[in-house]
Amino acid sequence: MKAFVLEYGEFKLKEMDDPAPGHGEVLISLKTAGLNRRDLSIPKRYGKDKEALILGSDGAGIVEKTGEGVTKFKQGDEVIINPSLRWYDNSSVPPEDYDILGMPDHGTFAENIVISEEQLEPKPKHLSWDEAGVTALAALTGYRALFTRGELKKDETLFIPGAGSGVATFLIQFAKNAGARVIVSSRSEEKRKQALGLGADVAIDTESNWEEQLKNETIDLVIDSVGKATFNDSLKILKRGGKIVIFGATTEDDVNLDLRKFFYGQYTLLGSTMGSRDELRDTLKHMNQHQMHPVIDRTFQLDDTHQALDYLENGNQFGKVALNMKS
Ligand SMILES: NC(=O)c1ccc[n+]([C@@H]2O[C@H](COP(=O)([O-])OP(=O)(O)OC[C@H]3O[C@@H](n4cnc5c(N)ncnc54)[C@H](OP(=O)(O)O)[C@@H]3O)[C@@H](O)[C@H]2O)c1
Repeated sequence: MKAFVLEYGEFKLKEMDDPAPGHGEVLISLKTAGLNRRDLSIPKRYGKDKEALILGSDGAGIVEKTGEGVTKFKQGDEVIINPSLRWYDNSSVPPEDYDILGMPDHGTFAENIVISEEQLEPKPKHLSWDEAGVTALAALTGYRALFTRGELKKDETLFIPGAGSGVATFLIQFAKNAGARVIVSSRSEEKRKQALGLGADVAIDTESNWEEQLKNETIDLVIDSVGKATFNDSLKILKRGGKIVIFGATTEDDVNLDLRKFFYGQYTLLGSTMGSRDELRDTLKHMNQHQMHPVIDRTFQLDDTHQALDYLENGNQFGKVALNMKS
């Protein structure tokens, strides 16, 4: 089968052996996969001295073959892959043996994948294949950050810096569905317009003075995954006693924090990462109830994965980038 791999430090398309399902496993013929910022950081973490690893965390496809002992799925079922490996029940932290699909295990940028049936969910009927293939990682991350960790309530005001990010496009929709007021920032005027089109109530320029722009707003919750470039501005516009949830740091990880201002302000800082299978099921239920669709910026073919990764790295996208496995 054709796959996009990282081999000895280089991204390349490669012919790989077709995998066979073992006990409790399922062979999926993948229709689509979704790109995530994580894919770009794999070379740094995987090293340059290792054999081919198939990239990719998100995907959707059709069950082609089931291994012995598989009870929940049969040939022909349409499924999406849950990349949050072995984190099944809701818990404050993932289990010790937790991993995200796509390193160290082979991922979804391939024509086929073999995976435990425990990592599959039925494909939501209202989603197209492209939409189903880009949903799980970003939607689950956003859902846990917003509802489990941030405990967003109806009529509260949420602020999201970096409106164009894949996760942000889910956050805007989840929060509006929950009856919250949503304010976003983006450096791009086009993305600000797109965020308003998606339901955001207010969109400000990331490069403007946020305190001035938002002086009449009471921000209850900030979800910031931009990192160093926005963290301190996010804290400045948060109401006293408000919460800030972090699940990423696209710019830089290390930030300066004025501890005195932080404790006088009675703020709460919460970390979050991906989520459990229970949370993914709640996410899909929410999306089904609200007939919610992911935002897809652009779709590439598997042969053009390299260009797709460059496109993601350049950061001009609003929403998710998809890959089609078969043209
Ligand atoms: N822990 C987890 O489970 C998890 C899961 C998913 C993602 N993540 C992380 O969360 C982050 C978001 O991921 P993503 O894929 O949704 O989005 P992304 O593609 O990393 O989007 C980045 C956003 O950050 C903004 N941005 C980038 N550089 C900036 C700068 N210098 N100044 C201000 N804003 C800047 C951009 O905003 P504009 O272009 O709109 O200005 C863009 O919308 C990433 O770091 C990712 O690795 C973590």
